[in-house]
Amino acid sequence: MPTIAVYPGSFDPITNGHIDLLERALKIFDEVIIAVAANPGKEPLFTAEERFEMIKESMADHPQRDRVKVDLLQGLLVDYVRSISATTIVRGLRAVSDFEYEFQMALMNRKLNTEIETAFIMTGMRWIYISSRIIKEVVRSGGDVSGLVPDGVAAKLVERLSKR
Ligand code: PNS
Repeated sequence: MPTIAVYPGSFDPITNGHIDLLERALKIFDEVIIAVAANPGKEPLFTAEERFEMIKESMADHPQRDRVKVDLLQGLLVDYVRSISATTIVRGLRAVSDFEYEFQMALMNRKLNTEIETAFIMTGMRWIYISSRIIKEVVRSGGDVSGLVPDGVAAKLVERLSKR
């Protein structure tokens, strides 16, 4: 049986830190499904479809693209994980400050479904300070984020935020 992990998130937008995490997960699991939360409980800059498309485009030439799928996540994460016969949720940890939120989510997900485990993977040191939020903040103020997000994403960020 292939091992399938779900990597959920807002991905508003995807960053090179997310891709680093994905590559680390691919060393452990046969297949990784990137699940883009349609309603992340935050006001996203990009619609779910735009976030989904940006991930698809960013992965189009990736050497391991055959082992990666992108999907839209509606409703409860644990229900989605079960519906595709996956058993593991993958989340990234950058710093201790991530831990409290992640710990709470992991335990709630375990309460909702005891058969699904959450695996935490440490982000590569190179990306430790990167988040979608800080990337948007930099672009909003006219800063350059090339090398921190896929090229197509950088262009879309400039296009979207320069109009505001
Ligand atoms: O990138 P984010 O915003 O930290 O990701 C949060 C996400 C999407 C993983 C979380 O909000 C989620 O799982 N949403 C789906 C709805 C759900 O199952 N919520 C309960 C989680 S304890």
